[in-house]
Amino acid sequence: MSALLIEDIHELAGIESDPRLMLAGKQMTDFASISNAFLFINEGKITAFGSMENGKADKIKQQYNDIEVLSAKDRLVFPAFCDAHTHLVYAASRELEYVDKIKGLSYEEIARRGGGILNSARRMQQVSEEELYLSAAARLDEIMAMGTGAVEIKSGYGLTTESELKMLRVIRRLKSDFPIEIKATFLGAHAVPPEYKGRQSDYVDLVINEMIPMVVAEDLADYIDVFCDKGFFTVEDTDRILNAGMKYGLRPKIHANELARSGGIQVGVKYNALSVDHLEYTGDEEIEVLKNSETMPVILPGAAFFLNMPYAPARKMIEEGLPVAMASDFNPGSSPSGNMQLILSMASILYRLTPSEGLAATTINGAYAMGLSEELGSIAVGKTANLCITKPMPGLAFMPYYYGTNKIEKVILKGKISVEL
Ligand code: NIG
Ligand code: FE
Repeated sequence: MSALLIEDIHELAGIESDPRLMLAGKQMTDFASISNAFLFINEGKITAFGSMENGKADKIKQQYNDIEVLSAKDRLVFPAFCDAHTHLVYAASRELEYVDKIKGLSYEEIARRGGGILNSARRMQQVSEEELYLSAAARLDEIMAMGTGAVEIKSGYGLTTESELKMLRVIRRLKSDFPIEIKATFLGAHAVPPEYKGRQSDYVDLVINEMIPMVVAEDLADYIDVFCDKGFFTVEDTDRILNAGMKYGLRPKIHANELARSGGIQVGVKYNALSVDHLEYTGDEEIEVLKNSETMPVILPGAAFFLNMPYAPARKMIEEGLPVAMASDFNPGSSPSGNMQLILSMASILYRLTPSEGLAATTINGAYAMGLSEELGSIAVGKTANLCITKPMPGLAFMPYYYGTNKIEKVILKGKISVEL
């Protein structure tokens, strides 16, 4: 693998000289940049970076004869986005429900009428594995072109053992075919299928006694998830499922507190979840619980925006010293976009995060929420070279500011130029 030197970088953002697994509180505010910089990649890893002024970039050029040199004059270079929560494997879009929503129906009302997740589950049962793969592959190409370098993808539109396994096999195939880093999460407990109406605990039994063992036997999942919320799975259901998952070595990353103060955060922390996600309904008690944990709070601005829901108290969490990650929640119902640049803009516009805090939330902290922050999420020596080179721009603050267009010019994944626009 050849070496690549990026020189004359106008601003190199998201650097760490002493890499940490996550950035909490003020550390997010201080996620650093340097101007007029170089970055050297060898064997797919970040090998050196620093100021153009110290002459090191020239020395590297003399040292390596087969080196490729790229100028990033007037451009920003930053770690590729780490999107820690998506449902991007799905069979069909749901724009008709979206129209119902505009007319005034709530997410819960749509779900009660058999829309929502159950609608996606019906379509999932009809689609072939090949079709499912092709549509998800197209979405992966789309998010890579917008700067995502690592993504978590959930099952959860299957709701039968067979369909859940189908989704997870598609994710496994995507993992081997794409340069983007992928983590798979088993979300059998996403909704109660209609056949189990009135006997929810029988469905929980199916998840525990049949689905988890089969998922683990085929080694199809890295993590386990439950939609722990009002109208979906109770704290007790979640406790049972996470307990079973733990016995099989699956660490939780759960949906919590999107629709109510459901106790989801507490049960997630109880099982040492890697992350608890959504968090629209988070009070002081939940913040205290998170402070005494290794669990990353993951906020999903796209879902709150798209569903017109209250915004999670991200600013407060950071002020209280917590880390915060932000992810796209890319899915056909509550957030039909995987554009992390838009999430970065929402981080500042809707949640009042500074550009550095927003960058930390969408890179290093997202990497933590996927168990990837030792290799990804910041510009640090020894990390995998996953980064974005932007179009010409004045600096990092322009990223959230100039919202709505793709500002990326090149995406480098594992040291190779994977996207060129
Ligand atoms: O993260 N909240 C639960 N699950 C998804 C929505 C899935 C859907 O509506 O299809 C979410 O928002
Ligand atoms: Fe989700």
